[in-house]
Amino acid sequence: MKITVFDALKFEKKYLLEANKDRHEISFIETQLTRETARLAEGADAVIIFVNDDAGAEVLEMLHSMNIRYLALRMAGFNNVDLEKAEELGIKVANVPEYSPHAVAEHTVALMLALNRKLMRAHNRIRDLNFSLDGLIGFDMHGKTAGVAGTGKIGAEVAKILHGFGCKVLCYDIKENEGLINAIQPEYVSLEDLFSNSDIITLHTPLNKYTHYMVNEETISMMKDGVMLINTSRGGLVDTNAVIDGLKQGKIGYLGLDVYEEEEGLFFHDHSEDILQDDTLARLFSFQNVMVTSHQAFLTDTALKNISETTFENLNCWADGKDSPNEIKVSK
Ligand code: NAI
Repeated sequence: MKITVFDALKFEKKYLLEANKDRHEISFIETQLTRETARLAEGADAVIIFVNDDAGAEVLEMLHSMNIRYLALRMAGFNNVDLEKAEELGIKVANVPEYSPHAVAEHTVALMLALNRKLMRAHNRIRDLNFSLDGLIGFDMHGKTAGVAGTGKIGAEVAKILHGFGCKVLCYDIKENEGLINAIQPEYVSLEDLFSNSDIITLHTPLNKYTHYMVNEETISMMKDGVMLINTSRGGLVDTNAVIDGLKQGKIGYLGLDVYEEEEGLFFHDHSEDILQDDTLARLFSFQNVMVTSHQAFLTDTALKNISETTFENLNCWADGKDSPNEIKVSK
């Protein structure tokens, strides 16, 4: 097959080429898939996309008009794909449902620890030969209550790590995770109880119409004063302006974000020569107790290998005229 990879990042090309094993003809495009760039896939049979590519109805119509029938997602989430439209057009869509929940879980906990122990501030300070400890007081994670919203593959790993730290783990999900219950016996509670009783709250649900803005003005008001909030799932779970108000009031004591609702077009790319136009992000950067990473929670060698291998397993199935086991249907 001829395959076009959109939003191809420098570091991932080698993993994708290795997984291809010289079977397909691949062209890499560094820009994101949008209405404006879709035509660059002309001549391809399949397209590989990433988290901030636009696979909405209009773009899918354009791909279909170019006889592209396969859309391989090199990621787990599929909130940027109009699945109904894909099904209507006969475009097959497959994702990488699991590549390393550990990678994302470990980054989640890295954010917690870095924020708690003020590692960035401490690091910057000692480089200025300032060895003072003022302002660097953290808290013991041991004994604190950690609320994990969404206990699928990633949330369950986070819950296990936090249990290992000696936290009391509260969980919320529409479906309880039996494996997690057997492993650490967490307490499943309502979302309201999780928000009001946790010292640390970490989000691991997918983004959909039910979870959009699950952290908002009202739910923030339920939280403990000085709560730590971490989001490594999808930016749209959090109303950023409400969170900024919470930070200004001291209600939110620590904020760790690996995802941001307006990250599209910004994250993954070097904008160091540009003037930041996003005032909300600029305000976030002004807080000492906020740490933002650029959607990098997945970024480990293990995860990149797994993502590339599963992406090409999906494409190889289609090239061989078979269904892929990772195809996503509207009902999924
Ligand atoms: P998963 O599908 O294994 O788990 C999601 C969990 O959320 C499931 O247990 C499901 O029952 C639950 N859920 C769904 N709707 C819910 C609702 N309305 N209320 C409460 N719980 C609900 O997914 P996984 O692999 O754990 O990934 C979680 C999210 O992490 C993904 O959707 C994706 O957005 C994000 N992610 C972020 C990455 C990063 O680099 N920052 C990398 C990979 C995933």
